[in-house]
Amino acid sequence: AAKLATWSKRVRVAIDWLLQAVFPRDLVHLKTTTTQRVSRACYQPGEFVFRRGDPATDFYVIERGEVEILDGDVVRATLGPGDFFGEMALLESRPRGASVRARTVLELDVVGRDVFTRMSSALGPLRDLVADAVRRRRIDVWNR
Ligand code: CMP
Repeated sequence: AAKLATWSKRVRVAIDWLLQAVFPRDLVHLKTTTTQRVSRACYQPGEFVFRRGDPATDFYVIERGEVEILDGDVVRATLGPGDFFGEMALLESRPRGASVRARTVLELDVVGRDVFTRMSSALGPLRDLVADAVRRRRIDVWNR
């Protein structure tokens, strides 16, 4: 749990750094395609962020609230503030492997694919963190 908290903190620091330093707000808004943008999005409880099989363009970090990772009607995991999702489809260039639904009022940082790619190649710790999560999440799926 302590390790998880440290990871969450690191992702958050990376995102804040990204928003403020690497991609100053003005610059972010000058960009044209969604894959190059970082933005915020809000959802109400029960709303879907995306569904299994959807094409993937973004990586998400939870600012506030919780989501459920769904395999059909089965809740595979619940994620909260500082957690991230949507990395698998981007890294593996395939459609979304699970549906993600807001469990509460939800506020997300939405990181476009191009930004995510540049961010993870520039930030070793972030890349490791994401790779670690993918390993653990994939094992979860296999062991089901
Ligand atoms: P992606 O396949 O892009 O979209 C669904 C997301 O759910 C996936 O990326 C992961 O971020 C997340 N996910 C899948 N399986 C798990 C799991 N077992 N635990 C936590 N998150 C998961």
